[in-house]
Amino acid sequence: MKRWLMISNRLPVSKDASTGEIKLSSGGLVSALGGIRNGIPKLWIGLEPREAGDPSPALTGKEGEIEYRGVPVDVGLYDRYYNGISNDVLWPLFHYEGGLVHFNGEDWDAYVRVNELLADAIAAEARDDESVWIHDFHLFLLPAMLRKRKPSLHIGFFLHIPFPSSEIFRQLPVREEILQGIMGADLIGFHDYSYLRHFCNALHAVLGVGSDMLSAEYEGRRITLGAFPVSIDTKSFHNRSREPAVEKILRRYRQSFRGLKLILGIDRLDYIKGLRLKLQSFRELLARNPELVGEVQLLQIAVPTRQDVPVYIQLKEEVERLVGEINGRFGRADYAPVLYIYNSIPFEELLALYRLADCLLVSSRRDGMNLVALEFIAAQSPTKPGVVVLSEFTGASATLSHALTINPWDVEKTSEVLKKALSLSDAERREMHQPMLKYLMQYDATDWAASFMKSLEKTRTVPIPERLM
Ligand code: G6P
Repeated sequence: MKRWLMISNRLPVSKDASTGEIKLSSGGLVSALGGIRNGIPKLWIGLEPREAGDPSPALTGKEGEIEYRGVPVDVGLYDRYYNGISNDVLWPLFHYEGGLVHFNGEDWDAYVRVNELLADAIAAEARDDESVWIHDFHLFLLPAMLRKRKPSLHIGFFLHIPFPSSEIFRQLPVREEILQGIMGADLIGFHDYSYLRHFCNALHAVLGVGSDMLSAEYEGRRITLGAFPVSIDTKSFHNRSREPAVEKILRRYRQSFRGLKLILGIDRLDYIKGLRLKLQSFRELLARNPELVGEVQLLQIAVPTRQDVPVYIQLKEEVERLVGEINGRFGRADYAPVLYIYNSIPFEELLALYRLADCLLVSSRRDGMNLVALEFIAAQSPTKPGVVVLSEFTGASATLSHALTINPWDVEKTSEVLKKALSLSDAERREMHQPMLKYLMQYDATDWAASFMKSLEKTRTVPIPERLM
């Protein structure tokens, strides 16, 4: 059986630089890749930042079905590539936050070098004709670098974040380099057709390359393009959320949240997740509906992320100030309207919260997909499922057609939708939930990976016949 090589910046676990503790990683990419189960041998290669001279062997292990292996990289170089370019240029720009971009040439050189480092490691590992699946915006240059080193490989690239309008993309000082890098792949995939359309427009505007949303011709090769919305390991979420350990936590929670309607938020503490907008909508809900004060609670889990980037530090302060303001204004001695936790929580507790909540609120300003919404649906009880209130600026809103969608910038409207979500009958909740669960049961992370990899194997770059060139 042919092996799959999967490449991403982050491995499913990471080692804490100071304590040496191994921790599970968070985020959509790790959740999606970790959910693939198909018996095919898979090796996941990712970066492992470490101090110069650290003699410890590379991190190895197994997550789900996938073996993983770290490629050591100097922390200083990694910092410039990860914080300097990936998180301070590409992430904000691709999420339409052009004002937050800080580009500098030295960081860019580090981004190039780290992509090269991985290209060398993969070229040394991969056997001729193997399939290599490269993930996300940290590795935009890797497809072309790898093709140069080993043209016999089947190279796929998948972007886990939105591809922005070409009007935004064109602001990037390194726009040609990025597109040339991606175009080294045989297959390029996105979550959604709108992202693919933006990519095709950028190809045309920046490189003058035409495409029909199915393929593009570049440097004598035909490259396949496609939309492959990511999914989760639905059955595992569904089954595990019914395990005795989860039931036990759920009983305890039911006791302590007795009499309250619960709105749940689970997000990395990232500006793209719209936490300020979420809190403002919740504040509006209480201000306009005094009868709900004391009746409804927002439980927001904010998972720490990218804590070295100044804008994330500032966001944390603003969110905490807003939480304090709402609690100060509407709180009582025996009631805090917002419960706020700045930490990740154990998996069983997460599943119990999914089951406990009446409603999940996702208010992302932009979000490639948002897998929390999918996980929440998979965990619900079929008799009295919770309701998903979902920003229309998430990739998930294109696939979860029965969720209640919101424009998170419209705080008043969002508060009305929240009120509606809390007042739906069980029958109405079931009517919304069933088709979404059915979809997720029929199309899970394994199907997502299979559809991408099948396309990759089938659509291996065919040179364009000379008469067409
Ligand atoms: C998003 C990105 C992933 C990333 C995750 C967590 O889901 O698409 O590539 O891993 O966020 O962010 P982090 O910077 O902690 O890896």
